[in-house]
Amino acid sequence: MKLNIALLAGDGIGPEVTAQAVKVVDAIAEKYNHEITWQPALTGAAAIDAVGEPYPDSTHEVCANADAVLFGAIGHPRFDNDPSAKVRPEQGLLKMRQKLGLFANVRPTFTFPSLIDKSPLKRERIEGTDLIILRELTGGIYFGERGRKDGDNTAYDTMTYERHEIQRLAEKGFKMAMKRSKKLCCVDKANVLESSRLWRETVQAMEKDYPEVEVSYEFVDAVAMRLVQWPSAYDVMITANLFGDILTDEASVISGSMGLMPSSSVGSKVSLYEPIHGSYPQAAGKDIANPLATVLSAAMLFEDMDLSDEAKAIRDVVNKSLAEGIVTEDLSEGGKAYKTSEVGNWLAANL
Ligand code: IPM
Ligand code: MG
Repeated sequence: MKLNIALLAGDGIGPEVTAQAVKVVDAIAEKYNHEITWQPALTGAAAIDAVGEPYPDSTHEVCANADAVLFGAIGHPRFDNDPSAKVRPEQGLLKMRQKLGLFANVRPTFTFPSLIDKSPLKRERIEGTDLIILRELTGGIYFGERGRKDGDNTAYDTMTYERHEIQRLAEKGFKMAMKRSKKLCCVDKANVLESSRLWRETVQAMEKDYPEVEVSYEFVDAVAMRLVQWPSAYDVMITANLFGDILTDEASVISGSMGLMPSSSVGSKVSLYEPIHGSYPQAAGKDIANPLATVLSAAMLFEDMDLSDEAKAIRDVVNKSLAEGIVTEDLSEGGKAYKTSEVGNWLAANL
């Protein structure tokens, strides 16, 4: 297969972790006879520095015409403590999600047998965890009306959802549940928020089209608690943009390292693959960041292209590296800590 992949390395550790995923994808391409063309493009603080905006039109062109986008991370500390900054790297990510129509963010959480004792949670609570949070990504409070009023003394952000935005996300959730254990949980705050009541009403109306799926409705605050108490009780969860942002960070600690969890963002056309961790600026340039979340995101890319053998080969070699201790310092625990680039080389060589 010929694949044209947009490569958006971004900020912080983004360039280092995506470089390892590129090695792995190239090794897969060689092994399975695919022809990969990488199209690098600027995004984030790196793009602000180069051209003054975090998601330039030229980058959008590259992404919109690609078969898939591999993304590293975005964000730079020099913007974090400056509320007056007019242009921020994160705006690039939001603009990209919106312009590419990436309305569903797929964030799986699973455990790795060889790492189960690295989790801050007890083994008996997390064993068997295999859930997916499907986060709405182009609506809600992230994109609602916001501003200041009363002479700058009041600020507001609004959470707005249209029925069709909920429907298209829920449809993905139901379909995903059908392929898995047929359990879907709608996470909302319908005891307080009107937009959540629309979520519940919309999902309830869709239940009849998927009679085999067992649907539950839970409030987001209770889910925040249960997710770390009994994560294995969940399968597919659907939720609004902000709730999903928070719950997916929470869920990422279950596996033992945030450096492990991949994600995809999908919509109608091109899909984007990225680690769920951020730009980790403290580690940038040190060759110490864990590249596995990005490598596993590349596995999701192959899976979505219906190249399951390729996806499985990546997941298997990642499991092998974990089992053999070829890991970066976040997972090495007294043993030898390998460099980011060494882990990438090892994975590619072992494919
Ligand atoms: C994420 C991140 C982004 C978000 C930030 C960087 C804008 O936290 O992808 O979860 O809030 O969506
Ligand atoms: Mg987040």
